[in-house]
Amino acid sequence: MVSGVTFERDRDITRALVAWFGASARELPWRSCGTRDPYRVLVSELMLQQTQASRVAERFDEFLARFPTVEALARADEGEVLAAWSGLGYYRRARLLHGAARAIVGEHGGRFPRGAAELASLPGLGRYTAGAVASLAFGEQTPAVDANVMRVVLRLEGRVLATADPRAVRLAWARAGALVEAGARLRPARGAAVVNEALIELGAVVCPARGPKCGDCPVAGWCVARARGSTGRIPARKKRPVRRAVYFASVLVADGEGRLAVTRRGDDGLWAGLHEAPTVERMDRASTGAEVGKLLGVGRVREVGSFAFKTTHRDCHFVVYRGRAPRRAPEGWRYLGPEAIAGLGLSSPQRRILLEMGAGGA
Ligand code: ADE
Repeated sequence: MVSGVTFERDRDITRALVAWFGASARELPWRSCGTRDPYRVLVSELMLQQTQASRVAERFDEFLARFPTVEALARADEGEVLAAWSGLGYYRRARLLHGAARAIVGEHGGRFPRGAAELASLPGLGRYTAGAVASLAFGEQTPAVDANVMRVVLRLEGRVLATADPRAVRLAWARAGALVEAGARLRPARGAAVVNEALIELGAVVCPARGPKCGDCPVAGWCVARARGSTGRIPARKKRPVRRAVYFASVLVADGEGRLAVTRRGDDGLWAGLHEAPTVERMDRASTGAEVGKLLGVGRVREVGSFAFKTTHRDCHFVVYRGRAPRRAPEGWRYLGPEAIAGLGLSSPQRRILLEMGAGGA
């Protein structure tokens, strides 16, 4: 049973939140078109899951121009979608988006299922994304808890829990659900959507993991963590993932016309399906130049640079070489000019290798 105190507190928090969002929401491209088309919501929410809003803002319109409708996206081949996703990272999301578009067109006649439960049955849509599309596009009274909302709710309630803790997950969905309900009472048409997006916005802008700006917070007066001075301990830190080292040796190989050799990575694992300069990869140590030359059949190689790149789970060490084109290109190699390469799906390090380091010629 909901006590009167909780009910009134939720109502007041929601009022403050909605007023703040109305006055302070950032102008972002996916918010710009008044009506909330479910396709735009789906694309933006998948892009935003692990990428900063400022980075998504740079890429969103371009992606929508290339794939303006769910049908256009469903028709595209995976390579095109990965290429359009370049620079956003976490390419699995691009594949999931593509799969969801194909399911919407193939199994639902191109019409989005409306409810969170139906949306969650589409491939690639988790509980958060389903809730976001259902509420932001269709006005359903359903919560959408991402890492931002989780942090805001845990702090509001003063619960020192890690975000992966099942108690935190239950609490966050239940409390966000109650705030959304209060929002829908306040504004029957768009209240649920506004509360969801306001909670996300609050977490992103005012209540980040580090450096919360409690002085600017519209709900600071109700925040238990603030009253107890425990904001910095919420959410509780999880152990850092142990990053495994991986050693990459990539070779820039130009043909007679200065085009560079490009291969495609396998369908599984890190950067699956993306393109790269011919590369040798090992887990125990860096390959020597002689090994690289022999393995890739490019004779003697000359080192032209090296750099490190971190992913969530890996410490990647890249050494970049130049080598001679073999007389016959090995299977899977293609020689491409810079424009064609720029149009491929490339990881950030390979973008650097092929387009920056590769631009210098032999
Ligand atoms: N992060 C996730 N969803 C978002 C949204 N709709 N606006 C801004 N940042 C977000």
